[in-house]
Amino acid sequence: MDLRVGARGTGAAHAVGTLLRGWRKRALLTQEQLAEKAGLNVRTVRRLENGGLWQPRSRSVLLLAQALELGGEEREQLAAAARGLPVAGTGEVAARPIVPRQLPAGLAALAGRERELAVVEDAHRARTALVVAIDGMAGTGKTALAVHAAHRLAPGFPDGQLYVDLHGHGAAPVEPGEALARMVRALGVPAEEIPDHDEDRAALYRSVLSERRVLIVLDDAAGAEQVKPLLPAGPGCRVIVTGRGRLSGLGDTRAVSLDVLPAPAAVALFAEVAGHERAAGASPGELEEVAARCGWLPLAVRIAAERLRARPTWSVRDLLKRLAGDRLAELAAGGHDVAAALDRSYDRLPAELRRAYRLLGARAGDGADDGADDSANLDSRTAAALLGTSAPHAERLLERLLDAHLLRESAPGRYRFHDLVRDHASRSSRVA
Ligand SMILES: Nc1ncnc2c1ncn2[C@@H]1O[C@H](COP(=O)(O)OP(=O)(O)OP(=O)(O)O)[C@@H](O)[C@H]1O
Ligand SMILES: [Mg+2]
Repeated sequence: MDLRVGARGTGAAHAVGTLLRGWRKRALLTQEQLAEKAGLNVRTVRRLENGGLWQPRSRSVLLLAQALELGGEEREQLAAAARGLPVAGTGEVAARPIVPRQLPAGLAALAGRERELAVVEDAHRARTALVVAIDGMAGTGKTALAVHAAHRLAPGFPDGQLYVDLHGHGAAPVEPGEALARMVRALGVPAEEIPDHDEDRAALYRSVLSERRVLIVLDDAAGAEQVKPLLPAGPGCRVIVTGRGRLSGLGDTRAVSLDVLPAPAAVALFAEVAGHERAAGASPGELEEVAARCGWLPLAVRIAAERLRARPTWSVRDLLKRLAGDRLAELAAGGHDVAAALDRSYDRLPAELRRAYRLLGARAGDGADDGADDSANLDSRTAAALLGTSAPHAERLLERLLDAHLLRESAPGRYRFHDLVRDHASRSSRVA
């Protein structure tokens, strides 16, 4: 690009000076620092900024542009000003909006999930839906998938990536107004300019995002009501939401339901975390058995592997023996805990669903559904008898447990627990 100073005159020199000063301040550099970075004499920088240098060398201007890390558009602007052409905004250089990069560190590689990752990525690359909503039971890898996909999509969203943990299944879910305040602050709005009312905040949020290309990750949503005010309206933004419950009512949405892992991926995850040399001491059948006892659930597989890694004297067979007993008690390590994760789902249920979960869990705990036989399945008539209600009402309760991913549907109208959820429901029935 040609940065030669063409037309000469105080107007052009003034415009060049104004631009350089603004960009230098934006880069938080003193004149001395800029001069040093550009390899120029500080007097040259001073004279340029003061409009006292009518004929700067094109090389000097180029060095300054590089030192200030100007983008293509700004370089054009500088070149135009240097040629004496009118340049908009030379009265004052607008501050470059802050570009938030809030994604937490992701996993270097996901075990399995190729298909789900492709769905999330394709939807947002093709800009087909505003929202991709990932749902699934506790610990199934929703956050891992969302964050991994977001890192891969980030280059397509040059104005930044926002990440908010909505703590939808924690003790204190984040209020939408609070989430909005945090996001607009991250986008460069000073705290004192954030309105008090949620609707005004949401309007400000949409305005700030209206012409930016930002990817927004809303992790662990309690439900659609928490998410709706956080949806942007501009064409350049896209959203990934995760939540344990199915999220409906968000409008233009591509839903991705995340099931437990396929066997090879669960075994690969176990070996990766436990260490390949430890896993190598076990037979393929034993490794698969460990993953099976973890219900193929990524959270459980990871915890089991961490336990083995932390105990150099254990073999995979020792681990298997332990998992044959009270699995939920075994599946806790390093701050991760399957039972605690399921407790959070259970605690959020209304009383009527908690009761249904416990009663269905008590039946399962009787051993009625050991193994893969059909007695593991429930239908609405069996549930109605257990719950002391009508079949249609029982079916509604079963559907709501299904939506919360505390039950699975084995065939239309047939329901069963995931193994670890069954253990949890049965345990809940005993302590209630
Ligand atoms: N595909 C995967 N490959 C490797 N590790 C995974 C995978 N999926 C999940 N994990 C790991 O399993 C654990 C649970 O995953 P994650 O936190 O993403 O689950 P979640 O579905 O978001 O759970 P919650 O419902 O509690 O929010 C994490 O330690 C995560 O790193
Ligand atoms: Mg999560």
